Amino acid sequence: MTMIADMVVVRPPKPAAPQLLKPRLYRTDFRILNGLDVSQYRADFKALRADFERDWNRTLFKWTDQVNDLDYRPLWDEFYEFLNRSSIGEFSGCLLYSEVQKKLSDPDVAAIYKCMARDEGRHSSFLSWVMRHMGRKFDLGLLPKMEKLQYMHPKLIFITTYLSEIVGFYRYQNISDHLKANPEFAFHPIFSYFDDWCNDERRHSRFFALMLRSQPQYLRGRLNHLAIKFFTLAVYITMYLRDCESEIYGKLGIDWEKYDVKVINETERAARHVWGLAIRTDSAYFLSCLRKMMRNNFKNKANRGKTGIAGARAKIMRFVRYGNTIVQYAKLVLQPHDFVATLPRSEWLNIAPDPGDISGIKLAGARPTSLRAQAQPAHG
Ligand SMILES: [Fe+2]
Ligand SMILES: [Fe+2]
Repeated sequence: MTMIADMVVVRPPKPAAPQLLKPRLYRTDFRILNGLDVSQYRADFKALRADFERDWNRTLFKWTDQVNDLDYRPLWDEFYEFLNRSSIGEFSGCLLYSEVQKKLSDPDVAAIYKCMARDEGRHSSFLSWVMRHMGRKFDLGLLPKMEKLQYMHPKLIFITTYLSEIVGFYRYQNISDHLKANPEFAFHPIFSYFDDWCNDERRHSRFFALMLRSQPQYLRGRLNHLAIKFFTLAVYITMYLRDCESEIYGKLGIDWEKYDVKVINETERAARHVWGLAIRTDSAYFLSCLRKMMRNNFKNKANRGKTGIAGARAKIMRFVRYGNTIVQYAKLVLQPHDFVATLPRSEWLNIAPDPGDISGIKLAGARPTSLRAQAQPAHG
């Protein structure tokens, strides 16, 4: 009874950046999973299954000759990092959903997992293809190791997987919307696929939202509320602490912090209607805690190479800063939350509205990068 999961399905961390949630493998109890009663919601699951089986993006992931003759050198490392991390996340999802669908007894739910594995496999392959085109390999070394499995209750698997899907939807969709408004920054044709690609992630989040709603015992009570806040904040913080180190956003003409804040607030506005509680992310207090954690990470990184007395001092300070990061996290988990009305059942499948106005995330002064080979000036 094992299950493979990547806690932060979107992207695994850089080794140098301490993360609150590291990608790990989990096992869960399929007796519990198979014992969940979804019969009251059968019509909703059947409607979702039919939607998945229509396979909207069956013909989407095919390259045209737009990708020929690209010269990747202007953003060799940052683009590869972006592709590799995204591919790891997609591949982890594919492994997870394939594993689950083999062991589930409910035919509708198993069929949906099978479709989701299909989608994530396609996404991962598409990203890997670009890496091959660059002449680089998909780095499997970043995949979670298969041997160390930790137990996680199905409830927590649902919560974290739902979060991964919904945050993935808003991440891809905001990049796509930004590049439609600012096409000069779309340095690679892969970004033109993001719009339809996002809809796969939105469908996946819809399924997990339905699954959670069909099990109200997982959403009620103080302990469950604490678990929801703990994991939701961990996903937001991990994303923020990774993105602050990534250089790809500048190349896309995106201000990474404004983008992250937008993604967090939009994810939060959708997710709160599943949880029935709202985390106060849209505040100066929330952002100040994230920034303190970021500064702790940067200072620790800057002092890594020191030796002797300076090295010993840096080591002590490193632990002090880790402690401070945990304090910031605890402050956010413990800050009061608000209770909100969950959506009426007739609207259960209409979650994850489109992102709002995109103009605020553009990076002032950014210059577009071209991967097209420049014509050589004629001589003589
Ligand atoms: Fe995906
Ligand atoms: Fe997905």
